Formats: sequence, C-alpha cells, structure tokens
Amino acid sequence: MVKAYRTAITTHKEGKPYVRGYDLTKLAGKNSFASTIYLILKGGLPDEKSEKMLDAILTISIDHGVEPASVVAARNIYSGGSPVQAAVAGGILAFGEYHGGAIEAAMENFKAYLERGPEALIADFKAQDKRVAGFGHKLYDKDPRTKRLVELAREFGFDGKYVKLAQSVEDEFAKAEKKLPLNVDGIIAALLLEMGFDSKVGKGIFIIARTPGLVAHVVEEATREKPVRRLSEEDVEYDGPAPRE
Ligand SMILES: CC(C)(COP(=O)(O)OP(=O)(O)OC[C@H]1O[C@@H](n2cnc3c(N)ncnc32)[C@H](O)[C@@H]1OP(=O)(O)O)[C@@H](O)C(=O)NCCC(=O)NCCS
Repeated sequence: MVKAYRTAITTHKEGKPYVRGYDLTKLAGKNSFASTIYLILKGGLPDEKSEKMLDAILTISIDHGVEPASVVAARNIYSGGSPVQAAVAGGILAFGEYHGGAIEAAMENFKAYLERGPEALIADFKAQDKRVAGFGHKLYDKDPRTKRLVELAREFGFDGKYVKLAQSVEDEFAKAEKKLPLNVDGIIAALLLEMGFDSKVGKGIFIIARTPGLVAHVVEEATREKPVRRLSEEDVEYDGPAPRE
C-alpha cells in the first residue's frame, strides 16, 4: 500500500533517531554541525575538504550588518511586539531575488551557460533586460567574501569549471561601464555546483547560514531596545497632495 509520506532522510529505530542512516546520538560530540548539514542535504558524510568548504560558506554568510532588508524586517517585527519566531521568520521572508535569494538562480545559470560561456550569458540577459543572479553589490566593487572563498576553493580543490565560469563572467562585466562583482551568492552558487549539490538547496543554504545572524539581531533588539521602532519625520519625504478640503 502507498503510504501518505515517504522519506529517505530520517527515521527512528529501536528508540534512536537516524539521519541518512547514521545514529544522531553517535554523531553528536563527534561530527561538526557543517558536516551534519552536508549529510542531511546530500545524503552522505563529507570528506574533510568538503566539510571545510561548506563550513567556510556558512561562516562567511552568517551576518552582514544591521542594514540589509532582512535584518531591518526582523528587528522591526520584534519591536512591534511579535515573538522571536515571527521576527526571525519575517527576516527570512525578506530573502528574495536581490538579497540572499540569488544562489539557486545563479546555479541554474552557471549550468546553462557552462558550454556557451560568459559572453553569451551576459548578452542573453542584456537582451531580456534581466539581472544576472550572483553579480553586483550595493557596497562592493570587489566582494571580499568572494575573494576569501576563492582562496579556500583553491586550497580545498574546488576551483573547477563553475568557479572559473563565475570569475570569467565577473571579468566580462568588468569591461562594461558598470562593474558588477561576483558577489557572495554567486561564488557560493559556483562552489555548491563544484561540490555536487542540487540547485534546489541554494536558497536553503543561505537560510541555514544567515538564520543565526537574524536570531542574534532579534535577541539584541529584545534585550537592548525599547518597543516600537518608528522613523522620524525627517527620515520621510512626503510628496503627496497638500492638505485639502
Ligand atoms: C545586489 C544588487 C541589488 C545591487 O544593486 P545596485 O548596486 O544598487 O545597483 P542598481 O540597482 O542601482 O543598478 C544599477 C545598474 O546596474 C544594473 N545591474 C545591477 N546588478 C545587475 C546584475 N546582476 N546584472 C545585470 N545588471 C545589473 C541595473 O540593471 C542598473 O542598470 P541601469 O542603470 O541601466 O538601470 C544588484 O546588483 C542585483 O540585483 N544583483 C543580482 C541579484 C544578486 O546577486 N543578489 C545577491 C546580492 S549579495
């Protein structure tokens, strides 16, 4: 008989929880969190280099200041009186195409243009007036997180064809008027492909990495700030009609 759900992820046997066949009570105390994330997402334990690469990806993405839309959303939701879980979930909901949500699309693009190359990718997106996921940043001409992840990719043996394609797209953009750096989402996309991850994990990897940052911001909001954040009148430009009858 077909059962309502099927899963290859977790089960319980003889009073113990197993993830992908490994006893969690034995992994705890022995296996790192990054390695266990790799296990649950990919189905098997990583070798040492894969574990270090994934750990670096998660570490470098843990937070990026109070300014991004997700943190502003999370802190404001808490300040209105909603509970921690609502504030953190609200922050996650702010991950979208432009902030924190570009990894999956970048993975798809890198796969689709691996043969055709960077010029074709940029030309096609330009023709459709679409932004290329994984490139551009509000703060950086060169994303320092990308630079570090590329160094580590070399060290751990993940600077393969997808990393090279991502870098060649950045080089191609550098010839254009507006420099669009390979951003952290873009390099993570290339690295996840090098590591053999499915593109459907792309958004999830960023959620996993950034949630500790969101929790920290919400806890700081709870413990250091007064309720109800409110912009001041000087922060707002009103350009609607003047008072009228
Ligand atoms: C991250 C991002 C929002 C930063 O944008 P920004 O530096 O403020 O740039 P603007 O929104 O002012 O855009 C300036 C110009 O560059 C273009 N542009 C910006 N990012 C682009 C991209 N990734 N691909 C193609 N064109 C891009 C815009 O279309 C705009 O063109 P125009 O002047 O002809 O209208 C933007 O680069 C982007 O959307 N990137 C793709 C999504 C992404 O990777 N997000 C993850 C960020 S870590």
